[in-house]
Amino acid sequence: MKKAAQNSIKIAVLPGDGVGPEVVPEAMAVTRIAARAEGIAIKTKEVPCGGRYWQETGQEWPDGAFETCRDWADAILLGAVGWPGAVLPNGDLAGGGVLFGLRFGLDLFANVRPAKLYPGIPHHVNGVYQEIWAPENVDMVLIRENTEGCYAPVHGQLTRGGETEVAVDSRIITRKGSERVIRFAFQIAKRRKGAPEDGVRRVTCIDKANVMAGCRLFRSVFGEVAEEFPGIEKEYYYVDAFMQALVRRPEHFDVAVSTNMLGDIATDLAAVLQGGMGVAPSGEMGANHALFEGVHGSAPDLAGQGVANPLAAILSAAMMLEWLGRTRRIPGLGRAARRIETAVRRVVKEGKVLPGDLGGQASTRQVGLAVQKAMK
Ligand code: IPM
Ligand code: MN
Repeated sequence: MKKAAQNSIKIAVLPGDGVGPEVVPEAMAVTRIAARAEGIAIKTKEVPCGGRYWQETGQEWPDGAFETCRDWADAILLGAVGWPGAVLPNGDLAGGGVLFGLRFGLDLFANVRPAKLYPGIPHHVNGVYQEIWAPENVDMVLIRENTEGCYAPVHGQLTRGGETEVAVDSRIITRKGSERVIRFAFQIAKRRKGAPEDGVRRVTCIDKANVMAGCRLFRSVFGEVAEEFPGIEKEYYYVDAFMQALVRRPEHFDVAVSTNMLGDIATDLAAVLQGGMGVAPSGEMGANHALFEGVHGSAPDLAGQGVANPLAAILSAAMMLEWLGRTRRIPGLGRAARRIETAVRRVVKEGKVLPGDLGGQASTRQVGLAVQKAMK
C-alpha cells in the first residue's frame, strides 16, 4: 500500500457533468475544513471529464487523467458523469469511459453504499414528505461487486444491412471476483455493531441462485467465505424477496452483498429508505485505490440552478476520509470523517436549511455552508 505523508493527502477531483460541478465544491470545502482541524492539508488536482467535456473536446477526459488518478492521487472524488445527447458512436454513454475506466483500471471491486437514515430526514413517497421508516431502523451497508457481472465488457450486437437484429450481454461471475467482495463485506460487518433489529452482526447474500448459474457460484463462494467469520450470521435472500424485505423490514439488515447489476438496482431502492438519492453516498474501493461519489447521477433537470442537494457528495467525502484514515493509518482523518457526519446529522435534525429534495428551499451553497457552520 502506498504511504501518504501524515500531514497531507492528495485528492483527484473530477466534477464531471450536470450537478457534479455544483455539489463537489461543497464537499471539498467541508473536507478541507475537517482535515485542517486535524492538521492535515489537502492537495487537489482537478480533472475535467464527462459527457459535456466529450462534446467539447472529443475525449471523455484529457490525456494523462487516468494516470493522475492512479499514480498521483491518494483518493478520487467524482461528481457525476452523463449528459443528455452525449452518446458515443457505439451507443455508450459519453463519460462512462471515465467511470468504467477507473472501476476496471484501478480494480475498484467493492462498491460500498451505506443506507443510513438521519433523524429529521423525510421520505418523499407518494407525492408527500413524511416519515415512513424510523431513523433507528435504517442503518445498513450494501456492497455491490463492481468489476464483473453484467458490466463485464462482453457485449455485442449483430447488425445486418444497417438493422440491429440481435444484442447480447454476457454476465460474468468469477470465483475471484465473488470471493474478494464477499470477504470485504464480512470485514465491514466485523467493524459494525450489527443490525438495528437485534444487534446481530449479519451479512446477507443477495442473488438469484434459483435461476442463474453465476448466482449459484456467488452463493457457494459466500458460504465458503462465511466460514472464516464464525461470529457473523450469514443469510441468503433471492433478490426479489430482498427488495420486499428491504422496504418492510429494513431493521433486519446490517451488511448485504450482491453481484454488480443486482446491487445497482438494490442500492437505488435502499437510497429511498435514507431519504433519496440526494443523501446517498458511495465509495468504490480496491486494494490500493478508491473513488467516492454520490449515488445520484448528473441530474440534468436540476443542473445549473444551484439547488442540488450536496449532502450525498459531502457524505461521500466523509467516507473518503474514513477510508484514507483507515487504509493509510492516519487517525486524524477518521476523526475528520466523523466530524463531517455529525455536522450533517445536526443540519438535517435542525431542519432549517434543507434542499428541495428534502422538502426545503435551501440552495446547494446554503446547505454546504450550514454543514460548515455545524462543524465549528
Ligand atoms: C451507478 C450508476 C452507474 C452504474 C451508471 C451511471 C453507469 O447507475 O453508479 O450506480 O450503473 O453503475
Ligand atoms: Mn446505479
